[in-house]
Amino acid sequence: MKKSCDLLIHNCQLVTCSDNGQPFGLIEQGFVAATNGQIIATGNATQVKQFTAKRLIDAEGAVVTPALIDCHTHLVFAGSRANEFAMRLAGASYSDIAQAGGGILSTVKATRNASIDELVNSTYKKLLHLKSQGVLTVEIKSGYGLDFDNEIKMLEAAKLAGKKAGTEVKTTLLAAHAVPPELQHDADQYIDLICQKIIPHVAKHKLADAVDAFCEGIGFSYKQTQLVFDAAARWGLPVKLHADQLSDLGGAGLVADYGGLSADHVEYTSLKSIKKMAEHDTVATLLPYAFYALQETQKPPIAAFRKHGITMAVATDSNPGTAPTTNLLQCLHMACTQFGLTVEEALLGVTIHAAKALGIEQRKGSIEVGKVAQMAVWNTTEVADLVYWQGQNQLRELIE
Ligand code: NIG
Ligand code: FE
Repeated sequence: MKKSCDLLIHNCQLVTCSDNGQPFGLIEQGFVAATNGQIIATGNATQVKQFTAKRLIDAEGAVVTPALIDCHTHLVFAGSRANEFAMRLAGASYSDIAQAGGGILSTVKATRNASIDELVNSTYKKLLHLKSQGVLTVEIKSGYGLDFDNEIKMLEAAKLAGKKAGTEVKTTLLAAHAVPPELQHDADQYIDLICQKIIPHVAKHKLADAVDAFCEGIGFSYKQTQLVFDAAARWGLPVKLHADQLSDLGGAGLVADYGGLSADHVEYTSLKSIKKMAEHDTVATLLPYAFYALQETQKPPIAAFRKHGITMAVATDSNPGTAPTTNLLQCLHMACTQFGLTVEEALLGVTIHAAKALGIEQRKGSIEVGKVAQMAVWNTTEVADLVYWQGQNQLRELIE
């Protein structure tokens, strides 16, 4: 007797992104069966004959991947920083602009002035754009509020926008993104507010899935980041870090020491930190758009990451300063052209490895039995097309 299922996609290049010994976890002439939104079987053209389905999709040889995951974004913000783009073109650096009170702080001003509805609506539109490229899971950070009420407002806006768009949003508290204008000369007092008030409230009300910080000369020191991570640990929240983006403060090693989910940016990461990442299985999240927009020249140490078996994720870093984009597929292309990732590494970077950077790899990121049946059918029979071809959306159908 045949097994019944809700959905059967067959006659496809099934790019499972699982560890099945094939590049990309590919099953040629594959099929995937799902019931109640969960994958119940995968296999090849012979095995598919055992199934009947309520809904049958003949993919006609097309590529099917897991729905994509953008594991590092700052999608909730108000205002624009187009003027700073012009300043940078004229020679000012990102740090110069930040030190003159622009940069993150200019977005903070606009975001504090915005209503939650305004933030929800603008974030919703960006989530829809990501969705049009097959992205159904998005991490969103706070970090443009920099006080109790506005950090909470950002996290709530992120969650509401996710509901409205039908996207799973994982929220990250990034209160330690910059020193707020009213405490410019007392960063430690702000760290205190984060540790004593914001993190406990966010944890109690389950407003964030993780805690992040910007460990950098123009952000927070190693010691201040440790205090934030200690508070996160006390409240049972996992950590991740904007680490070694503009200089090496040892951030990637620090987040690894705390058993963190990921070290993000990592352009200046040292071998010492890489060894700690390997020891604690910390993901390196690569953000090629920010590298490009800042016209950075120091590339992340990809060869050393490979050598030490570091898992690499890729994300947009979508934000108004260093990554004005919601184009994840373009970031894949750039991860290859700028950082030298292979097509396979890039694609795994926005599927199973991005899931790991969010701590949801048991549930999402690959097409395997027991996982959520969120998948993308693409208008191509060649998986490399997703990474190679730019500017024309290739998504045929999204299974939500
Ligand atoms: O990931 N570097 C710190 N944070 C962001 C930029 C935020 C901003 O400039 O608004 C980043 O690059
Ligand atoms: Fe970022």
